[in-house]
Amino acid sequence: MNKRKVGITDTTLRDGHQSLLATRMKLEDMLPIVEDIDSMGFHSAEVWGGATFDSCMRFLNEDPWERLSILKSRFKKTKLQMLLRGQNIVGYRHYADDILEEFIKHSVNNGMDIFRIFDALNDVRNMESSIRFVKKEGAHAQATVVYTVSPVHDYDFYMKMAKELQELGSDSICLKDMAGILSPYNAYEIIKGWKGILDIPVQIHAHYTSGMAAMTYLKAIEAGVDVIDCAISTMALQTSQPSIETMVASLDHSLYQTDMELTRLSKIADYFCEIRKKYQEFDSSSNSVDTNVLIYQVPGGMISNFVNQLKEQNALDKLPEVLAEVPRVREDFGFPPLVTPSSQIVGTQAAINIIVGSRYSYATDEVKNYMRGYYGRPPAPVNKDVQKKIIGDEIPISVRPADLLEPELDRARELAGDSVQKPEDVVSVALFPQIAPEFLKKRKQKA
Ligand code: CO
Repeated sequence: MNKRKVGITDTTLRDGHQSLLATRMKLEDMLPIVEDIDSMGFHSAEVWGGATFDSCMRFLNEDPWERLSILKSRFKKTKLQMLLRGQNIVGYRHYADDILEEFIKHSVNNGMDIFRIFDALNDVRNMESSIRFVKKEGAHAQATVVYTVSPVHDYDFYMKMAKELQELGSDSICLKDMAGILSPYNAYEIIKGWKGILDIPVQIHAHYTSGMAAMTYLKAIEAGVDVIDCAISTMALQTSQPSIETMVASLDHSLYQTDMELTRLSKIADYFCEIRKKYQEFDSSSNSVDTNVLIYQVPGGMISNFVNQLKEQNALDKLPEVLAEVPRVREDFGFPPLVTPSSQIVGTQAAINIIVGSRYSYATDEVKNYMRGYYGRPPAPVNKDVQKKIIGDEIPISVRPADLLEPELDRARELAGDSVQKPEDVVSVALFPQIAPEFLKKRKQKA
């Protein structure tokens, strides 16, 4: 019998510890097991991007570029993959195209193979430059459709957006469910639809948060998905991905194969079981699945942010009200998916509305900029009354936000000064002007 191969991307070294250990895993704790991971035959290993870049400099005193090039030297067979937030790169605002281009060039030079590109609003205009620059460097551009539930996110939306991304030259398409709210049958419908209209491979990325993701993957596999994202069992489940071993074993006696050996995977699982103990203070694990996410669409990380915010205000008892406020704010904001940075923008406003006790009488700068269109076009029009309350009679922009940005690299070069040791350092400063100069200075003193 001819079985169909299902590829697995191992997310342990990026999303795994970003979801479970607040992105704190150090390179020194990854390196001893890389050879084993590399020998398994994964489709790719997601090891970089997302919050790891920021976390390296902010918390770990590690050079993110060095992390990438060292990982590349140890991963001899497996392709490396990263998460790129489109025009937000690995930060929280829109950057000019010159920085994006420079970032992608150096990422490829340091060993990145596959760029998973997304935009928090599913605004394709915010992904175009990323796709173009990745292709120009000869790397793999995987374009992402962020999954969310709203009246405007129907079957046609998912078909149309994926088709558009393929037409832009994407090498593959990913369906990304950061909150863990994609049900098995909804996944089946979307993936089946994509396999019917797309000529490029399709991958699925889900979080286990609500307990559905392994079932969702199984239906996605039946619908023809080419690659699934999983983490090693001891770094899986909860707000992380489904476990590699579980998915491998699930396909026993089926039409599908992964070519993975469970006994060899268990060595990797044992390794991370031990390593994880070192990061206990950051470990967000809880004993159960979180089904609140199915009601409020609020990802796990966001709930812990709320708890911290409300504790500071001595208002922890208001948590249920804040959670109930999130869908209301999201509707006023035109149903953005809740993913970085829109999750922070919507979440903070929901908390403010409840703490202040009146809606939108106070708004953060990020919320004002969102209403000005500086993050892109929301999936549906924003509530005009709310918009007026927040930015008055200002007229929102209608172009791609980055079109209004002046080139930023020269300024970053100035700011970086004489602590620069390589061109990548300038990119670090451009992305994180608040923390990178300090990091570079410290590194220079140490040398
Ligand atoms: Co994720």
